Amino acid sequence: MDIKFAFDKVQPFIDQEDISLFESEVKLHLGNIYNRQGKGNDFLGWTDLPSKTSDELLDRILQDARKIRQQSAAVVIVGIGGSYLGARAVIEGAGNSLDNDKQQMKVYYAGHHLDADYLAGLLEVLDQIDYSIIVISKSGTTTEPAIAFRLLKNHMERKYGAVQASRRIFAITDASSGALRKLADAKGYSSYVIPDDVGGRYSVLTPVGLLPIAAAGLDITGLIKGARIMEEYLQKEDSLKTNLAAQYAVVRNMLYRKGKTIEIMASYNPRLFYLIEWWKQLFGESEGKENKGIFPAGVGFTTDLHSMGQYIQEGLRNIFETTLIIENSSKQLLIPGEDEDLDGLNFIAGKRISYVNRMAMQGTMLAHVDGGVPNLEISVPELNEYNLGQLVYFFEMSCAISGYMLDVNPFDQPGVEAYKKNMFALLGKPGYEQQGKELKKRLKD
Ligand code: PA5
Repeated sequence: MDIKFAFDKVQPFIDQEDISLFESEVKLHLGNIYNRQGKGNDFLGWTDLPSKTSDELLDRILQDARKIRQQSAAVVIVGIGGSYLGARAVIEGAGNSLDNDKQQMKVYYAGHHLDADYLAGLLEVLDQIDYSIIVISKSGTTTEPAIAFRLLKNHMERKYGAVQASRRIFAITDASSGALRKLADAKGYSSYVIPDDVGGRYSVLTPVGLLPIAAAGLDITGLIKGARIMEEYLQKEDSLKTNLAAQYAVVRNMLYRKGKTIEIMASYNPRLFYLIEWWKQLFGESEGKENKGIFPAGVGFTTDLHSMGQYIQEGLRNIFETTLIIENSSKQLLIPGEDEDLDGLNFIAGKRISYVNRMAMQGTMLAHVDGGVPNLEISVPELNEYNLGQLVYFFEMSCAISGYMLDVNPFDQPGVEAYKKNMFALLGKPGYEQQGKELKKRLKD
């Protein structure tokens, strides 16, 4: 297990030693998670997903990924929320952030918003290149991916003909219900099942994440191996003294109870942008209910030190920060010296840029603590699929424990329906007529 968690920089906001007061509470929550007895217990399938992922499933996914890569220069991943963010987090985290051509596969995303210009631009790009589609929707009826998939399927059928198109479309959805399942079966798409007991935001280690990640040319065997190591470690370490996921959950709740209601996840590596987006969904959708929950926000440093740094340093003191640290860069670059030291930087000439980044990080953490922002640290030695697998499972387990500490069901998302109902009413969906009239009146008033 390669993850480290440090929380010495929570002093003096809370007493580090007080964590031991939560030992029995954590044991109770872990018991409820592993024995599937807690709130939302029909969605605890993610707990043993890594160890239960069969070689047959991985082989089939790798085979389809090879097919996609042979027949296409690009793959379009269609999905939203939990059916999209985990794959993007790993693809951008373990891939090459500047140019995914190095993976010999362009990866495009669709169905994660409703912007017509983006979709029209994507179709123009796809006119010029061979592509495959991976469409992901557990319900099979989510509006954003359903609209994008209609457009892409029509485009593909026009470009290749219906028979060839059905060999280029890969569907990941429910085993038996929903529009996408019906279509996949009728058209003969290669399709995968999202297990009933795994919710969207906990599904990255199912085909939902694995097929897109493999199609992008990344190592899903390493990803699953990392997740398995973390699964075994956390199951073995049932004491708060050694279970790092439980420690993280407890410390964030201790801070929450002291009025620190916003957690900012900070990284100093732009490749972690989508991992933080995924983390935001995981924690936000799991905890934000019943008028409770820590609001998850994200920043990318040092970039955002020049935009959000001021607020973090001196704004309302209801935040704490968790820094996600990659200890080693895979590439080393030295800062060049200059004959004329016009920018005054010759004092660091010959130093590694990663060293400067680390000093920026250490200086920032101390400045934020001095400014009233407690800091937690989560580190991994380097950014690759294996460590991302560990991080994914680590955060999933912390999130479940943290949700139970808040006494909410961390596996449902009833609040997501509110905007959908209004949108359907305003669009005139049959059955929503009265609500539509009322909303239109409110918008005019
Ligand atoms: O975590 C969740 O459950 C959500 O984010 C869903 O994944 C998201 O709304 C997409 O749903 P679906 O996969 O049914 O299209």
